[in-house]
Amino acid sequence: MKIPFLNLKQLNEPFEKGFEQAYRDFIQSGWYILGEKVSVFEQEYAHFNTVQHTIGVANGLDALILSLKALNIGAGDEVIVPSNTYIASWLAISYVRAIPIPVEPRMDTYNINPEFIEAVITSKTKAIMPVHLYGQICEMESIMAIAEKHNLYVIEDNAQSQGATYKGKVSGSWGHCNATSFYPGKNLGALGDGGAVTTNDADLARILRVMRNYGSEKKYYNEVKGINSRLDEIQASFLSIKLKRLNEDNAKRIEVARLYIKLLQGVGDLTLPQLAENATSVFHIYLIRTKKRDELQTYLTDNGIGTMIHYPVPPHLQEAYRDLGFESGDFPIAEEIAETCLSLPIWPGMTHDEVGRVSLTISKFFNAGG
Ligand SMILES: Cc1ncc(COP(=O)(O)O)c(C=O)c1O
Repeated sequence: MKIPFLNLKQLNEPFEKGFEQAYRDFIQSGWYILGEKVSVFEQEYAHFNTVQHTIGVANGLDALILSLKALNIGAGDEVIVPSNTYIASWLAISYVRAIPIPVEPRMDTYNINPEFIEAVITSKTKAIMPVHLYGQICEMESIMAIAEKHNLYVIEDNAQSQGATYKGKVSGSWGHCNATSFYPGKNLGALGDGGAVTTNDADLARILRVMRNYGSEKKYYNEVKGINSRLDEIQASFLSIKLKRLNEDNAKRIEVARLYIKLLQGVGDLTLPQLAENATSVFHIYLIRTKKRDELQTYLTDNGIGTMIHYPVPPHLQEAYRDLGFESGDFPIAEEIAETCLSLPIWPGMTHDEVGRVSLTISKFFNAGG
């Protein structure tokens, strides 16, 4: 039996009855975009995220773009961002014509290293965008202290870590304006695209609601140049159903991660995930590193085990960012992670037997000399 990288069908099976009922209600309602279901979900997610306001939008990239726009970040402004994030974090900054200023991550946690941030702050710096990568929250206390000292905004990219905490305070509740994604594979995933901004600032929340809907609060009266980035009613209903089980599902992911750690400790040259002090991870991704990454990936594929690479090319070396003039070697930590990382299968319903089989196959690869 094959083990896929992610079994979305199995992951969503427990919710199917609820989804069917939600679909019937949705058809009956005759209301499809930005309605009561979206408002209910926004309140529920705000409660989960311990913030005053959630603004549902069309996807995570829009949530980042709208956050930047709401904070008036634009042409020529500098935004500090990790060198090893998914491209969406950089793209959002570029979209508002600001400049991404990369900062290297810690080699052990893969999250932005707060110790490197102050060195790149200039008079043009407007914000820090910490990205809670692979499920682990960044060291938010230090990041908020730096932002306060230099009068900068913080926009958390919380696409991968819904529910993770730093000193008990949840991701997406630290920054001024925080973005998340409900892409199907995320810890809280819809059955299509979706995203949200979370904030405690009522003025920001109001302008974000206006901006996601053509810049209009009152229909056909436009106070700002907004965009069309609205959350569907049906996705909001599905998300409300799944949100009720998010903590439980995150706990199941953590259990899978613990089992991997137990079974893979000391195997070959593997580096296993590590947590920063006071930080938790909801293991969106279970990422290992090895110098034999490509050979191991091929061996696992040959043995029916799916894996992924998050991410093979760091943003500064992407074709899309050639204009910034970065070269290979400019961000060696991000580059080393890209060359050695491998993400193993993980999802809430993954069985102990499946984790055992993945781990055994990895051990066999290294026992045979890699
Ligand atoms: C770190 C990060 N930021 C932003 C996004 C963008 O989310 P979306 O795909 O919903 O636009 C993603 C997900 O793809 C992500 O992983």
